[in-house]
Amino acid sequence: MDSFKDKVAVVTGGGSGIGRALALSLAREGARLVLADLDEPAMDGVARQAREQGVETLTVRTDVTELAQVQALAERAWKAFGAVHVLCNNAGVAAWGGLDKATHRDWQWVLGVNLWGVIHGIEAFVPRMITGGQRGHIVNTASMAGLIASQGLGVYNTSKYAVVGLSETLAKDLKPYGIGVSVLCPMGVETRIRESERSRPAALRNEAAAEPAVELIGRYLAPETVAGMVLDAIRRGELYVITHDEGLEPLRRRFERMQQSILSRRKA
Ligand SMILES: NC(=O)c1ccc[n+]([C@@H]2O[C@H](COP(=O)([O-])OP(=O)(O)OC[C@H]3O[C@@H](n4cnc5c(N)ncnc54)[C@H](O)[C@@H]3O)[C@@H](O)[C@H]2O)c1
Repeated sequence: MDSFKDKVAVVTGGGSGIGRALALSLAREGARLVLADLDEPAMDGVARQAREQGVETLTVRTDVTELAQVQALAERAWKAFGAVHVLCNNAGVAAWGGLDKATHRDWQWVLGVNLWGVIHGIEAFVPRMITGGQRGHIVNTASMAGLIASQGLGVYNTSKYAVVGLSETLAKDLKPYGIGVSVLCPMGVETRIRESERSRPAALRNEAAAEPAVELIGRYLAPETVAGMVLDAIRRGELYVITHDEGLEPLRRRFERMQQSILSRRKA
């Protein structure tokens, strides 16, 4: 995809952080926006800013953990604009603490948003995008935590590793249709992710939820910087959007340990 002008872009979690920056960057490039988030005032604020840039916007309050709501989002998007070219499955939350302490509700909440949210996006949008017959692109927001495991982030790691695997396969499956896939894997970004508990539903509350204790290594990037990298990756049709140079060393060590498993077995 070489231009976003007049394309239709859907961004989940579009009210804050990376989703907000993705939406406003796409708007700056002339894309029409469909914003989906639980937080309506935040989403409305982003829509207002986008409209000031002269683009058409639609906001749809959506809980991505509910398939019916994501299907209703797709319905609204096609009704308003007749097509969707860019889908950013971005909404996400983080829970902190060891796997020995994780509650069933922690698993349900984090996997519900981070993994099922992405699955629902694919279920609701991909068949229509294929039928529409136009070139398109899907961006799934994972994390460096989907490539490197960190102590104290196990539930989140599980959700994000799944999103990386799903995206790698999706890229292969959608290639014949001219629909590209990118998976966004940032380290620290200056957003409200550490305040994720604000959107946890009451039914899944964990009164003993741990404070965000894990200090991420590396720099904290501005969401706008990350959004710029995503748009470049869409233009170039790149699968991985690995935003931090600091990721190189841990990735190399992980790969070396895997390689070592094979090499040392061969020697034995
Ligand atoms: N900030 C980081 O350091 C970082 C690093 C790696 C990956 N990520 C990922 O980036 C994505 C965006 O997070 P962010 O950092 O911008 O955080 P953020 O908290 O600023 O924004 C997340 C948005 O998702 C929305 N949301 C939460 N649950 C939802 C649900 N059930 N349905 C719809 N919307 C929901 C929130 O209302 C919020 O607007 C997430 O997938 C996150 O895991 C963030």
